[in-house]
Amino acid sequence: MSDRRDNPNADERPDIDKKPTPAPSRDTPFTTADMPIGGRLVGFLDDDIAKQPTVLRTDGYDILVVKDLKMHFPVTKGLFKRVVGHVKAVDGVSFTIRQGETLGIVGESGSGKSTVGNCVMRNLTPTAGQILFDNRDVTNIKGKELGTFHKYLTMVTQDPFASLDPRMRIEDSILEGVRINRLVTDPHEQADLVTRLLVLVGLNPKFAERYPHEFSGGQRQRISIARALALNPAFIVCDEIVSALDVSIQAQIVGLMMRLQQQLGLTYIFIGHDLSVVRHISNNVAVMYLGKFMELTSSDELYEKPLHPYTQALISAAPIPKPRVDRQRQRILLEGEVPSPINPPAGCNFCTRCRYADERCRTEEPALRDVGGGHMVACHRVAEG
Ligand SMILES: Nc1ncnc2c1ncn2[C@@H]1O[C@H](COP(=O)(O)OP(=O)(O)OP(=O)(O)O)[C@@H](O)[C@H]1O
Ligand code: SF4
Ligand SMILES: [Mg+2]
Repeated sequence: MSDRRDNPNADERPDIDKKPTPAPSRDTPFTTADMPIGGRLVGFLDDDIAKQPTVLRTDGYDILVVKDLKMHFPVTKGLFKRVVGHVKAVDGVSFTIRQGETLGIVGESGSGKSTVGNCVMRNLTPTAGQILFDNRDVTNIKGKELGTFHKYLTMVTQDPFASLDPRMRIEDSILEGVRINRLVTDPHEQADLVTRLLVLVGLNPKFAERYPHEFSGGQRQRISIARALALNPAFIVCDEIVSALDVSIQAQIVGLMMRLQQQLGLTYIFIGHDLSVVRHISNNVAVMYLGKFMELTSSDELYEKPLHPYTQALISAAPIPKPRVDRQRQRILLEGEVPSPINPPAGCNFCTRCRYADERCRTEEPALRDVGGGHMVACHRVAEG
């Protein structure tokens, strides 16, 4: 969608944060006081947030920079857990996300999408590479620093039951992180926050008293989003958040995420299977296969001019809502299974399933190259024109 290309908050840039961000340093501790973003929780309580977002910094700077990220899980055997190999779940991906924008990540099951999300969230410590959030190196932070970091980044997943305790009232689920972090301690202010959050995600504030099983899948996902927002994040990793929902509900949740992004200046990684959904919300989209990015470009460019054979196959297989056009389309069949990430093919990762594969593809790995205008593709055939 072309309207997503521009930073929605560009005109709302407050003067308060025009100063340049300090240079990144591995030695600088990561503390709340240092963060030039945030402060929206106060806004939840003091302002009508629908009219007056209280984001302190919304100038579209590079909020997340990931360099050559690798996550190799050891495969162990026997009583002494001897390491006999590694699952190369993520094997050298690099990307940058501007504040207020969305990077979509698509790919078949097992391609490493969630592992990228979990590394960025620092639920996992990467095997190699570097993660810079707001110009701070967060690759190896732990303890208190990690706790502070998690106030700025949060994750919403496919299964809201995983984050909502069935025995807890919605109010208590939403406030769990707020109470642990002692962000709001006054009971009236806590109740006020829950009311505002429920309204913000399009739910009746009376739902606060109820339990998760009383809600539909879409409503539960909205509650999970409210719970994530309670910590006043700047960045949300959305991992397949609409995959389990009906198509009409999917559209509503995606619409909600887009509205929240505009109102609160949020930045997203949006992981999904459904290419049309990911296209709708994303500024840029990365196509992942066996732990690597095969193609990375703007959302429109990717869908209108896919260059990598894997992207072309994925797009040709995705259903089009117009049945007549859908029937007339030529589909590229993806044959065979995704190879094991323990033992990926030599050369190009995609060579065992690519209809253009030749000898060079089987021996030499193609680098992810800019083939023009920032359109990155990892394919010998494309790079050579
Ligand atoms: N903790 C772990 N230990 C070992 N292997 C893992 C671990 N987590 C993920 N993997 C493996 O890493 C690979 C990538 O997994 P990941 O969950 O990131 O894929 P995905 O693209 O999110 O898939 P899906 O679309 O099914 O969610 C898979 O082969 C998976 O089995
Ligand atoms: S490098 Fe070769 S095998 Fe890989 S996608 Fe391109 S043509 Fe196919
Ligand atoms: Mg996943």
